[in-house]
Amino acid sequence: MKILRFIPIAALLAFVSLISLQSCSKSDKPAGTTTDSSKTTTTTTPAPSTDATAPAALSDKAKKGQLLYYNTSLGKVKVACATCHSDGSAKTQGNQIRQGHTLAGVTSRTATWNGMYKGDNLKKFAYGASLCAAVFQKRADIKTVDKALSADEVDALNEYLAAINTAPGAMTSNLKIQWVGKPTFSDEAPDEKIAKPGITAIMKLPGDPAKGETVFGASCGTCHSISDKKIGPPMVKAAKDMNYVAQTIRFGSGQMAFYAKDVLSDQQAADAIAYIQSKLGK
Ligand code: HEC
Ligand code: HEC
Repeated sequence: MKILRFIPIAALLAFVSLISLQSCSKSDKPAGTTTDSSKTTTTTTPAPSTDATAPAALSDKAKKGQLLYYNTSLGKVKVACATCHSDGSAKTQGNQIRQGHTLAGVTSRTATWNGMYKGDNLKKFAYGASLCAAVFQKRADIKTVDKALSADEVDALNEYLAAINTAPGAMTSNLKIQWVGKPTFSDEAPDEKIAKPGITAIMKLPGDPAKGETVFGASCGTCHSISDKKIGPPMVKAAKDMNYVAQTIRFGSGQMAFYAKDVLSDQQAADAIAYIQSKLGK
């Protein structure tokens, strides 16, 4: 009997605290663009509440944003935001190594893309998503990045990003994107002087093809197969020059996004390359 009476009260308490947490984070949002990210980080981060209640709690606009987030047909390249960025949901948390960091927590960041987006431009370009949509999804070319997403789409994405701000794995402080050099965001090869140290760091390491198979599957495999075309071209041609493969990993190539060092280590890159080589009989 005692237990029976206890459960509804506990449930009620949990429910009430959930509601207050949600309304609290909602009213934080407009102010969240300023610098009080420390506050957001130190709140108790109720991870389970987000997973259990987020779908039901999404506003209509946030739902629109979520659809955009999972849409693989937003641009000419058939990848979605979710292909490259976790949103903290179980669907995007697994062994897959995504090129981008999680977007849970992004609305608390005060600068994104290593400082390319800050101030008013954060909300205006969905925290820098316009650049991804233009370059990686090929919705616009590099000269019209700002138009890659319509104002309505930006609005919807902003609302969804705000809704996942405290989702599991959230990163609320500014990222230091560990790129070897700023990517060119075009088909142009990076400056040789900048590219070379990044390539050498990978190529000087002995790679393990067995480990590389796992790395390839978890990262490259989303878009590439060794000998068939998937979202990206087969590895056969590019693999004639392994330095070029290493360069592509660190700087991207046109529509392919780069891998920062903390996303894919030099050793993991060397292992993936050793695997590609082993498959091509070299
Ligand atoms: C092909 C992969 C890819 C796709 C698709 C992609 N992104 Fe990105 N995005 C990246 C990479 C790589 C970065 C660099 C920063 C990082 O590591 O997160 C980035 C950076 C960002 C940032 C800045 C993060 C920060 O704090 O610096 C935002 C915001 C973002 N992307 C949103 C989106 C949204 C929204 C979409 C869908 C409309 C999207 N991206 C599609 C790969 C991608
Ligand atoms: C989210 C999708 C995606 C992922 C993941 C990805 N790539 Fe790519 N990759 C592409 C696309 C798309 C292209 C074509 C780019 C272009 O032509 O603009 C490409 C191009 C390349 C090229 C150049 C091919 C050529 O023939 O010029 C190489 C090499 C390459 N990728 C290697 C890799 C490796 C190695 C990994 C894993 C560490 C990887 N990619 C992960 C999408 C991806």
